[in-house]
Amino acid sequence: MKRCTTQLIPAVFAALTLAGPAIGSEGEDRHDRVHEFHEMMEQLGEHTQRIVQAINHEDWEWVASEARAIAEHSRPPAEERRRIRAFTGDRHAKFAEYDKAVHSDAAELAESADEGDGREVINAFARLQTSCLDCHGAFRAEFRRHFYLTE
Ligand code: HEC
Repeated sequence: MKRCTTQLIPAVFAALTLAGPAIGSEGEDRHDRVHEFHEMMEQLGEHTQRIVQAINHEDWEWVASEARAIAEHSRPPAEERRRIRAFTGDRHAKFAEYDKAVHSDAAELAESADEGDGREVINAFARLQTSCLDCHGAFRAEFRRHFYLTE
């Protein structure tokens, strides 16, 4: 029995060492560290792209439904939120504020779309995009370095 275990250990180490560089060299693989958060961002990106299309078609109902999907977007699981909070540290209030702004801007956009007010839709959409940009400006680069990069 004892011999069995001692032989197994180097085998496990070898497997880990082999797997190591493969994970390390693929930056993309590190996304699983906050995978749900990243998925959520990709979805926000898709909704905003569809809003642009919907505006071009003057399809206000479509704008409203995409905007509501943003306003009601889900949160990442508690475990990811905990790690994000550990990263944002004493700047967490700021991070949460940007998120809140996105929710309320999106809700306002949906209301303007319900009213079929094209100009106000475009203004509200600009405010929404600005809220995305503000958080990205303050956190994105550092966030990506912290969670995804291997150097
Ligand atoms: C509270 C902060 C915050 C807000 C608000 C926010 N984002 Fe992000 N977003 C991030 C962070 C941090 C990243 C980098 C992490 C990542 O790529 O997973 C990111 C990444 C992304 C990405 C991935 C880009 C890439 O290079 O892969 C997209 C797309 C995106 N956000 C879209 C949006 C859109 C659209 C909105 C507004 C509707 C928005 N985000 C609002 C923090 C935020």
